[in-house]
Amino acid sequence: MKDILQELEDRRAVARMGGGAKRIESQHAKGKLTARERIELLLDADSFEEFDMFVAHRCTDFGMEQQRPPGDGVVTGWGTINGRMVYMFSQDFTVFGGSLSETHAQKICKIMDMAMQNGAPVIGINDSGGARIQEGVASLAGYAEVFQRNIMASGVVPQISVIMGPCAGGAVYSPAMTDFIFMVKDSSYMFVTGPDVVKTVTNEVVTAEELGGASTHTKKSSVADGAFENDVEALAEVRRLVDFLPLNNRAKPPTRPFFDDVNRIEDSLDTLIPDNPNTPYDMKELILKLGDEGDFYEIQEDFAKNIITGFVRLEGSTVGVVANQPMVLAGCLDIDSSRKAARFVRFCDAFEIPILTLVDVPGFLPGTSQEYGGVIKHGAKLLFAYGEATVPKVTVITRKAYGGAYDVMASKHLRGDFNYAWPTAEIAVMGAKGATEIIHRADLGDEEKIAQHTQDYEDRFANPFVAAEKGFIDEVIMPHSTRRRVCRAFASLRGKSLQNPWKKHDNIPL
Ligand code: HXC
Repeated sequence: MKDILQELEDRRAVARMGGGAKRIESQHAKGKLTARERIELLLDADSFEEFDMFVAHRCTDFGMEQQRPPGDGVVTGWGTINGRMVYMFSQDFTVFGGSLSETHAQKICKIMDMAMQNGAPVIGINDSGGARIQEGVASLAGYAEVFQRNIMASGVVPQISVIMGPCAGGAVYSPAMTDFIFMVKDSSYMFVTGPDVVKTVTNEVVTAEELGGASTHTKKSSVADGAFENDVEALAEVRRLVDFLPLNNRAKPPTRPFFDDVNRIEDSLDTLIPDNPNTPYDMKELILKLGDEGDFYEIQEDFAKNIITGFVRLEGSTVGVVANQPMVLAGCLDIDSSRKAARFVRFCDAFEIPILTLVDVPGFLPGTSQEYGGVIKHGAKLLFAYGEATVPKVTVITRKAYGGAYDVMASKHLRGDFNYAWPTAEIAVMGAKGATEIIHRADLGDEEKIAQHTQDYEDRFANPFVAAEKGFIDEVIMPHSTRRRVCRAFASLRGKSLQNPWKKHDNIPL
């Protein structure tokens, strides 16, 4: 009996060593942690329960039968993050470069199936040379099995990908279908075809980092949602994000004890809006002053900065925030900001996270590049996302809400539940100058007349009261009491029930 127990210990010890001490050393030399070290940092201490530690591949080509390391290049199982259950896999680059074999894929599929059945998020740590070259099509089949599960799990349980090494070729499409992708600066990259193929086909010379590093994907392509300095920071931030998320689409967002006054008055907000309507101010200041304890988890911080997306807590409950940022492109909507916010709104709606929208938007960005790039379709994504969302929606217009952008930004007409405006709000078809130049074209040479017309237009529309008279604004509120008003609004909406008509699925303008 003792021998058998010892054998289990010995086998476990072998499995835990992955590809062996030398390869672990080489992993560390690249500034990367091993698959198991990452799990330890991600999960609560001693909470990890491993599956399939002894699974080995079945390949007999190219001498592979001589090397059958237990675990087959991926560590899978479940554990807890601050006491809440998650399933996870962590690819082990020290075993065949973390490459994906048929059995490696089966291990991932097993925990994804369990996550779906038990209603808990899936977190995947990717560090892999891609398809196990020795296995050929069996490996491709394995990828497709994972893809299919990513698709089925979408909108059912949150899926988070952390890219901590190579992720190339078709392998990128599994993370691409998850809800959030995080990368580590300088040690991770994602691309469909690598620098060598790019050189051959297009003659472009580019490094792996330039082509698909964390900076590229958080600033240019928007494939990734956040970039972190190293493995330790990335895993700590994933823990922080999970704290904001519900476990599945039938669970309420988590609430946790809060130590902030719901009725907190912020007098400084009364002077947040500058006297000159063209002077920018930092919308993040408002977000930080509204959320419990000033805690804000920003998503896609480095992309389309003219819109801000992320999570706060109000009275301990998660709320998604979408806010125009007047500091960048005057806060206008364009292709990138519409896509970014639309995806965020849809995530919140899928997982029953209420949405707070803070509006200061002068309209859509004009120009050929926007029109040629399809701003009509991309803008429609955000409109569609807001209009289909059935979660509680509270909107605060701080300053400009012009034209179509007024409609788009969670207006009353898109089933906004509480539509507030500050006294500084200007709700109109367009800015006074532009409006005057169109409706008083005949007076264009006469500066005095134009100035008078502009003033008249401003007096009439540069305020929230015309919209409030029509009931499009439920209440004009004092900036200093915004936190109290917004908290009370969401509290009153906890029992909200709204259903869209039955359909197989919608046809959002992709
Ligand atoms: C089998 C692999 C492997 C793979 C790496 N290894 N990739 N084994 N299949 N795909 C092994 C290496 O043989 C090596 O084994 C160990 O992993 C570490 O690899 P190194 O090359 O020494 O590491 P490094 O210098 O850091 O380079 C990492 C790398 C490179 C850039 C990822 O290994 C590489 O280019 N690999 C091939 C990538 C690739 O073309 N994959 C297929 C893509 S197509 P030893 O024993 O020496 O430690 C694809 C399609 C998916 O993925 C389709 C889905 C639909």
